[in-house]
Amino acid sequence: MYQYQTVIADLLSHPRVVETRHHMHHSIPKHDHMMRVVRYSYRIARLFRADRRTCARAAILHDLDSRLGTLANHGAIAAEIAASLGEPAEVSRAIISHMYPLGPRPTTREGWVLVVADKIASLTDMTAFLGGLFTGRSLRVRRSLSQTDPFYTPRRRRHRRLSRFWRSIGQHGFSRTT
Ligand SMILES: [Fe+2]
Ligand SMILES: [Fe+2]
Repeated sequence: MYQYQTVIADLLSHPRVVETRHHMHHSIPKHDHMMRVVRYSYRIARLFRADRRTCARAAILHDLDSRLGTLANHGAIAAEIAASLGEPAEVSRAIISHMYPLGPRPTTREGWVLVVADKIASLTDMTAFLGGLFTGRSLRVRRSLSQTDPFYTPRRRRHRRLSRFWRSIGQHGFSRTT
């Protein structure tokens, strides 16, 4: 087990983190993105003389329930979840500002580490996704995530309802559908 894994071992088996393997983020599993941020922030923490453990713990939680917020405020949502899981205030403080310059400015070294690590990880996510387009893997994974991510399920249902509606108009005209 790598050192960055040992400081988050308890969180790695937490259901809120485990379920992100089936959630989509940047068209890849959210868990992959968050682990990338863990690895990067653990490394970058040294440069910023930040607390590595705080950085790693903030990183593995930083995008939980991000769908419930906007680009600017989803950090606050994840910060609250971290607090509810019993994480200390420094972890939530680092999470809340990870979208800077969208959203609040970091107030701690750990906050700055998360901003930098998250930006680099997002670029790497996209590169990985583009690379996987050539083999078909990216689209396969994306399709399966859209089946398991609860955020997409109602949308899919709405889409199916709409296509049924248009099909019935095609067959019977408006008279039969109203
Ligand atoms: Fe985020
Ligand atoms: Fe992120």
